[in-house]
Amino acid sequence: MRGGWSKTVAVMGAVGLLAVSACGNSSDSGSGNSASKDVTVFTWWADGGEKAGLDGLVSVFGTKCKDYKFVNSAVAGGAGANAKQVLANDLAAKKPPSTFQAHAGAELGDYIKNGQVDDVTDLYKQFGLDKAFPQSLLDNLTVDGKIYSVPANVHRANVVWANPTVLKKANIDAATAPATVDAWIADMDKLKAAGVKYPLAVSKGFAEEMVMEAVLLAELGADKFVGLWNGKTDMAGPDVTAALEKFKKVLSFGNVDREAIDWPDALGYLNKGQAGYQLMGDWVAAQELSLKVPETSYTYWPAPGTAGNFQFLADSFTLPTGGQDPEGAKCWLDVVGSADGQKAFNTKKGSIPARSDAAPADYPKYQQSAMADWKKDKIVPSCAHGAACTLGQNDSILSAMGQFSSGLDVATLQKALVAAAKPN
Ligand code: GAL
Repeated sequence: MRGGWSKTVAVMGAVGLLAVSACGNSSDSGSGNSASKDVTVFTWWADGGEKAGLDGLVSVFGTKCKDYKFVNSAVAGGAGANAKQVLANDLAAKKPPSTFQAHAGAELGDYIKNGQVDDVTDLYKQFGLDKAFPQSLLDNLTVDGKIYSVPANVHRANVVWANPTVLKKANIDAATAPATVDAWIADMDKLKAAGVKYPLAVSKGFAEEMVMEAVLLAELGADKFVGLWNGKTDMAGPDVTAALEKFKKVLSFGNVDREAIDWPDALGYLNKGQAGYQLMGDWVAAQELSLKVPETSYTYWPAPGTAGNFQFLADSFTLPTGGQDPEGAKCWLDVVGSADGQKAFNTKKGSIPARSDAAPADYPKYQQSAMADWKKDKIVPSCAHGAACTLGQNDSILSAMGQFSSGLDVATLQKALVAAAKPN
C-alpha cells in the first residue's frame, strides 16, 4: 500500500481528513527489479474484496509484464473518499503515479480537460481492445475522437442487499423485492415494529448519495434521472422535492452512527443481523466472497422501483501525462484490458467484465445475474461514481449529504443539489 507510516502521517496533515490504513510498506511491492521499472498503481482498493480484485490483476501483471515491478499505491476509503484528494495533490504537484484508477464518464472528463491523462487510442488497436469491447462502450469512452483510459469492469450501483433471517422477523419474504420505494418503506416500518432498531445499514458520504440516487431513479424514471445531471430535468422541480422527501424517510431507518463508518462496516451490521438491508454497489458481492459469507446468508435485488434499470459505473485505468515509466504503465493497461486480466479481476471484484467475450460460467452466481441484466436492462449512469457527474459536482453533493444526514432538511438539500447540478 501507499507510503510508509511517516508518509501517511504527512498525507493526513496535508489533507486533514484521512483515515487511511496505508501504513504497511513493503509486502505489496514485490521485489527484485530496479526502481526505474517500478509501476506505481494508484487505487482505493486497499482491503477485502476490492484488494482481492486488485490482486487478481497483479498476478496477471506478474506473468505478462516480467520486466516491471508492481508497486501498490492504494489509499483506503470507500469510493475514493480519501484517495481522490491525495491523487489531486499528486497531479497538481506534477508527481503522477504510473497509472491511476478513474471512473469512465464525466469523472474521467475532468482529468482529460485538465490535461492530466494521455490519449491511449493507439493502444486500443495494439491490444485488440477496439474489437474486444462493445461498440456502445467504445462510443461512451470516446471524447473528440480519442480514448483516454482502459475500463477494467462494469459495476452496478442500484442494488439492495438483504439479510433473510432479519426479514423473517417481520414475515418479509427476502426473495421478493418491494416493487416501489413506498413498499420498501412499509417493509422497513414492519421491521421496526418487529424490534429491528435500524432496518437499513447506511454509511457516510457516497453511500448516502447512492441511496438518494436510487430513490431519485425510482421516483423520476431513467430519462428524467439522467436529465438531472445534464440540465434537462429541473432539479428544483416539485417531483424532485417529493422524491427527496422519500429519501429522507428511507434514511430515517438508518443507523445513527452512519457518519462515522464506511461501507464495509455497514455491511457488517447486515451480516451480523443488526440490519435488514444495505443499498450498495455490487462490490458487496466481492466483500462477501472475501469474508466467506455463504451465498445463502444474503439476497439481492435491484433497488425498489428501479428494476429494469442497470445503474452502472466503470473503473478504468489511465496513462497519466508525465507519469513514471509509461512503458510499464502500458503493460498494466494491456493486462487491465486483456481477457485474462478481466477474468482474474472481475471474478473477485463483484463486477462484470467490460469485454464482450467473457463466459458467464466462469463467474460466481451474482455476476452471472448481473451479466444477464446488463444485456437486457436500460443502462443508466451513476452520479456518485463518476459516470454521470464530475469530481466537482460530487464534492458539492457530498458536502450537502453530510449536512443533510444530521439536519434532514430537504429544502436545504435540494438547493445544494440545484447548485451542484450546474455543469462546472
Ligand atoms: C467505487 C469503485 C468501486 C468500489 C467502490 C467502493 O467508486 O468504482 O470499484 O471500489 O467505489 O469503494
